[in-house]
Amino acid sequence: MDSDGNSLKNSPSPALPGVSVVVPTYREAANLPELLARLDQLRRAQALDLDVFLMDDDSRDGTQEAVARAGLDWVRLVVRTANRGLSAAVMDGFHLADKPVVLVMDADLSHPPEKIPEMLAALADGADFVIGSRYAPGGTTAEDWGFLRWVNSRAATLLARPFTRVKDPMSGFFAFPRALLDAAPPLNAVGYKIGLEVLVKCRCRRVAEVPIHFAQRHRGESKLSLREQLLYLKHLRRLAVFKYGHLAHFSQFAAVGFLGTLVNLAALTAYDAAGVPLQAALALAIFTAMLFNFVLNRQITFAESRGGSALKQLGAFIAACSVGAAVNWAVAMGAIRAWPALERLPQAAAVLGILAGLTFNYLASRYWVFGGRRPR
Ligand code: GDD
Ligand code: MN
Repeated sequence: MDSDGNSLKNSPSPALPGVSVVVPTYREAANLPELLARLDQLRRAQALDLDVFLMDDDSRDGTQEAVARAGLDWVRLVVRTANRGLSAAVMDGFHLADKPVVLVMDADLSHPPEKIPEMLAALADGADFVIGSRYAPGGTTAEDWGFLRWVNSRAATLLARPFTRVKDPMSGFFAFPRALLDAAPPLNAVGYKIGLEVLVKCRCRRVAEVPIHFAQRHRGESKLSLREQLLYLKHLRRLAVFKYGHLAHFSQFAAVGFLGTLVNLAALTAYDAAGVPLQAALALAIFTAMLFNFVLNRQITFAESRGGSALKQLGAFIAACSVGAAVNWAVAMGAIRAWPALERLPQAAAVLGILAGLTFNYLASRYWVFGGRRPR
């Protein structure tokens, strides 16, 4: 066992597949000597066929010198100047990776390189994705992980539940057969959960989790900000549309509609209190709710269509909702006509009407107002 509690088997592993290790780096010069030394040791001890792509966003902190000093011909430093960012760097690394297995890990020694053979073994055993996992049985995180970071990490993990049952989908330490990428739909990770992106988009089924001890970052500080965390929500939304299609769009639309109802009631209360005559207040409240729904649907539900003219879209949305209201009314009336008993329970007829109106509004919004574009 090494100091991190991650064991280094010393029996040679002839059956392990070759691996390209992709390491995104930004200002990690201080960590590179130890990272490369540990990878070098592992490579020799296990006779691994392993190369490394350091995907650096032009750190200018001595990274180039540190790599040169290490003098390892299986390490390639790629200095990126365009399209910066963690996910973009990793995806560029995917294109360069030339071994049968692609593995991604951080440079800050949070991820123990000594676990790589175990991860490769899992792939050799038939897994199509393997995670260096903090939350699988036996996995741990550094003790000095603050409570906030722990809660944050757990909440993020919980939000990924609809997409995958794995214990640590947020991990930045993962590997998969390179061939997976050939059949992959376009990858596009907003934020930094690129592992989750591959896991979901490539529809990996046999996922293995190798427990690791997630160590405290060796040197320097984390680059992941609150902004990245918010981008994660965006990423989840895209994954939802990818995985659940209509259902995801529709539930977002319905959720917006529900909020819109509350806005409608609140606005009505406010206009009424301000002394607006009731007839006008009712109409104004409906209009306010429509505006609210429009903004949210344009920003969230159909975010991929934000490129279009807002004014045109607003006009179309109002027209669509007006027809939707007529559909709502007609269905409720039709239901009462078909089942006269409903006359004593018009609310039940109204619910049918609301559902029909909602479905109409949704279809019109998706295919007409917002032009039916799909996120990637
Ligand atoms: N090229 C490039 N560009 N690399 C970057 C950038 C960037 O903009 N931002 C960060 N990196 C590199 C860092 O140098 C490091 O090697 C790795 O990406 C992870 O960055 P950290 O700043 O150490 O992130 P973290 O410790 O907060 O997050 C890690 O743990 C999370 C789970 O708790 C990452 O592994 C996440 O992917 C993981 O979800
Ligand atoms: Mn880190």
